[in-house]
Amino acid sequence: MRPILVTSALPYANGSIHLGHLVEYVQTDIWVRFHKIRGRDCLYFCADDTHGTPIMIRARNEGITPETLVKRIHAEHVADFRDFLIGFDHYHSTNSEENRILSEEIYVTNRNAGHIHTEAVMQAYCVKDGIFLPDRFIRGNCPACGALDQYGDACESCSATYSPLDLKEAHCALCGTSPEQRESEHFFFKLGDFEPFLREWTRSGALQVQMANKLSEWFDAGLKAWDISRDGPYFGFEIPDAPGKFFYVWLDAPVGYMAASLSYFRQHGMDFDRYWRDPDQTEIYHFIGKDILYFHTLFWPAMLKGAGFRTPTGVFAHGFLTVNGQKMSKSRGTFITARDYLEQLDPEYLRYYYATKLAKGVDDIDMNLDDFVLRVNSDLVGKVVNLASRTAGFVHKHFQGRLSGDYPEDQGLFQLFLTEARSIAQHYHEREFSRAMRAIMALADKANRFVEEKAPWALAKENRMEELQDTCTVALNLFRLLMVQLHPVLPAMAEKTRVFLNLQDMNWSTTLLPIFGTAIQPFSPLMQRVDVKKVQAMVSASREMDSVPAVTSSAVVPEEKDIGITMETFMEVDLRVAKITHAETVEGADKLLRLVLDVGPLGVRSVLAGIRAFYTPESLLGRLVVLVANLQPRKMKFGVSEGMVLAAGDGSGKLFLIVPDSGAEPGMRVK
Ligand code: 2FM
Ligand code: ZN
Repeated sequence: MRPILVTSALPYANGSIHLGHLVEYVQTDIWVRFHKIRGRDCLYFCADDTHGTPIMIRARNEGITPETLVKRIHAEHVADFRDFLIGFDHYHSTNSEENRILSEEIYVTNRNAGHIHTEAVMQAYCVKDGIFLPDRFIRGNCPACGALDQYGDACESCSATYSPLDLKEAHCALCGTSPEQRESEHFFFKLGDFEPFLREWTRSGALQVQMANKLSEWFDAGLKAWDISRDGPYFGFEIPDAPGKFFYVWLDAPVGYMAASLSYFRQHGMDFDRYWRDPDQTEIYHFIGKDILYFHTLFWPAMLKGAGFRTPTGVFAHGFLTVNGQKMSKSRGTFITARDYLEQLDPEYLRYYYATKLAKGVDDIDMNLDDFVLRVNSDLVGKVVNLASRTAGFVHKHFQGRLSGDYPEDQGLFQLFLTEARSIAQHYHEREFSRAMRAIMALADKANRFVEEKAPWALAKENRMEELQDTCTVALNLFRLLMVQLHPVLPAMAEKTRVFLNLQDMNWSTTLLPIFGTAIQPFSPLMQRVDVKKVQAMVSASREMDSVPAVTSSAVVPEEKDIGITMETFMEVDLRVAKITHAETVEGADKLLRLVLDVGPLGVRSVLAGIRAFYTPESLLGRLVVLVANLQPRKMKFGVSEGMVLAAGDGSGKLFLIVPDSGAEPGMRVK
């Protein structure tokens, strides 16, 4: 199999990484890790995208050089990616010597082949700031609908697009003065020269179907020449033989993919041309957001082609992230930076959650924060970790930490897991991660059912030691297979598993044989449950308070103490539908019944309820009730109660359980 080189889009060096960015880095990283643990030669590169006017202006405002700014942001980005376990083989910068050399080469070769022409262009210039203004730096009134204070290229009110020259009362967004129109010479890349090649490349299987269709629309509209130059002062690379002219940031940005790899290849004594000139020897894949398709499927392959380089094997676009069904928003606290997340939560929660949502298409994905908590707790903690935590203790307590001497009879489960691994691998390969996660969790359910049937706790009580050791050996083997299958998504947990089970590695191929007769390490929790409070703390930390209405009139809103608890306090109470699966009297407690409740994805709870005088245990079996699900477990005289069921009563000797209407499912939220 040919080696593969994979990239994610280069983040701009003027802002922090946020959860929206991470969809792509997590997606790419899972794909790369999958290939690596399958033994494929695979390299993953990225870099900061450092050039352009916004970065220059920000540095100017901070009173530092752009170089100092991009260095600082580089360190921040590297730390964010590291802490989200994004395993780049190299993370570079577009403001690098490698990038300058390659950008110049690509430009000069295209120019010498006649693919560049020059043309005089009229452009807005701010005399006060001394710069040509990009469209986004000009504000004014929309020429179509008159809406005030719109950008220079498009109206947010009526969606009209226009030239900044047509904007009414145009002014510089930085200083407010009205710009001059100045003429200057610009360099254009003749995209139209590449139309036959691009049409063919588009149909080569490099693109997702929806994307190939989008491209057809662009071909129909005609391929226009692309303005690749900007006048100084501009933070970027000066164009060869054109003093005072700079490459537009989008010219040298994708070249950053090559530059990152060149830097790596130089350090490792590897051949650059093998990757970038010879499509028969290697494969190249770019992961991008659907908003930057034009750059990656028209300009980029055309520039490469014109300069004699190979073109990408595939460009994979993904959709955008919404949080709780809406665009990320600072006022709602859903514009969450990587750091705000990491300060509260484990990165592997997010990696798993995204994996359950990601597929090969370009649909947007939604991060519902309630669903996030439920999914992670119920799948990873409730199904996967549980398998080890319920069995490892017995192995230490009774068998000096050793597994059975032979691999025991397991109802064909090990074999089934291996067979299923093949289609799981196929899902990973096709970027159908949500399918892979579903298939893995279906296996986890089977493994848990096996443990429940064997009931090791009962075997221990009855002193059936051989069966006990065998059951634990099977459970831990199945756990190991699940963790190998989850390894691309949960690399840190996979490593903890490797140490716990005393394994050489967690690679796909080494799981073909079960483990037995070996010793395991004492079990320490591999993952904690997601704490809802930490999710709330993250949202609070991300919320920009000044966008929330600051003034409330006491004439309208009474003082909080007059009306009791606040809405926020009430919203913190987590009410859930639960099903009574078992009810019994409690010895010595004449008012209590012990109820075992099925709360769907939240698991099983045991609750002591003061309802004995009103209900017999048998009459309660199978009934639905409402559970206060986020009460701290309370130690009572007759045991621990993990919640409270709701009932109506005024102490006058009658009591009525509150019962959800039929059709409600265990675990459903009661609002
Ligand atoms: O859209 C963006 O955030 C760009 N910085 C992506 C650049 S990708 C590559 F072409 F450099
Ligand atoms: Zn200005």
